[in-house]
Amino acid sequence: MKVLGISMGRKNERSDIYCKQALMGVEAAAKASGKEIEVEFINTVTMDIEQCRGCGACSKAPDGKIKCILKDDYLELEEKVLDADGIIIVAPVYSVGIVGQLKNFLDRFGAAHDRASMIDEQNKRRQDGRPLLDERYFKDRYCSYIAVGGAWTEDWTCLGLPMMHLFSCSQAMKVVGQINANDQGRKTSPFLDPPMMADVFAMGENLANNLGVPYEETTWFGKEGTCPVCHLNLLMVNGTDTVTCPVCGIHGKITVEDGKLRVNFPKEQIARARNTITGLNEHHAEIGEMMRICIPILQEKKEFLAEKKKEYMAYKPKWS
Ligand SMILES: Cc1cc2nc3c(=O)[nH]c(=O)nc-3n(C[C@H](O)[C@H](O)[C@H](O)COP(=O)(O)O)c2cc1C
Repeated sequence: MKVLGISMGRKNERSDIYCKQALMGVEAAAKASGKEIEVEFINTVTMDIEQCRGCGACSKAPDGKIKCILKDDYLELEEKVLDADGIIIVAPVYSVGIVGQLKNFLDRFGAAHDRASMIDEQNKRRQDGRPLLDERYFKDRYCSYIAVGGAWTEDWTCLGLPMMHLFSCSQAMKVVGQINANDQGRKTSPFLDPPMMADVFAMGENLANNLGVPYEETTWFGKEGTCPVCHLNLLMVNGTDTVTCPVCGIHGKITVEDGKLRVNFPKEQIARARNTITGLNEHHAEIGEMMRICIPILQEKKEFLAEKKKEYMAYKPKWS
């Protein structure tokens, strides 16, 4: 089995150190358990990973391999991710959320490798006798995340870990651990924070121990959090007693007991979280339904829409 450590921070700075520390934890657990695990480390900071152009070419895969039309360093990282069984991503928090490079990567990787649409597509290919999709698209994978932030207040890092989960959800990867490594400014260096280094090591050990374990039997490393799926505390409220976890897309009911806010997420909601095949199938069906509705409208309004588009294409405002 293979574990890939991805650091998106500056070379040889905090994210690199935490990522290598977690990989050392993976190796220690492998040695202790006798599991055969190879580890690899990559720093992506100087990699060129452009924004998805939304062209849709990746959904065609005529020879069974999803190919992005952009020929940049995304392709190298994509191959490494597909080869891995476990992935540790350590990324700095920039502007309260993930670094742009990770968002660019997951925009290009996630939708293109959506596991529900891959399963559907593979079944169709089997029936039609077309080349089958790469088997790596259907592999269970395990992830752990570390968001590295300078601020000592968590509100300045609060979208780091939640946005990192967007990497794993489309492929239904299982997240088994996470750490919000905020307060890096005051702490100065990971080497001056032995408790954090011990946690990061243990998170790596936990990832190694979970490789190959059925998702429902995996063990979690990190804070428990409010949402039982992502273990985070982000909630969308809508003026009723129902709240939604924006990371997992599941609904729960709020109660306040002894001044403490609790959310009960029913089992059926947990089962349809965004990172499950059920949740992904729901979204796949939603996209299918959207197409069913919009294609006849596009046909019917073809001339009108073409004229309107021309108007807007001709509109080219410019500073004088
Ligand atoms: C452009 C930029 C924006 C940043 N925004 C935040 C932020 O919103 N919250 C925070 O906690 N730290 C922020 N930081 C600090 C970094 O997260 C911190 O320096 C981290 O250690 C960088 O990771 P590295 O040491 O692995 O490169 C920002 C740093 C940069 C360069």
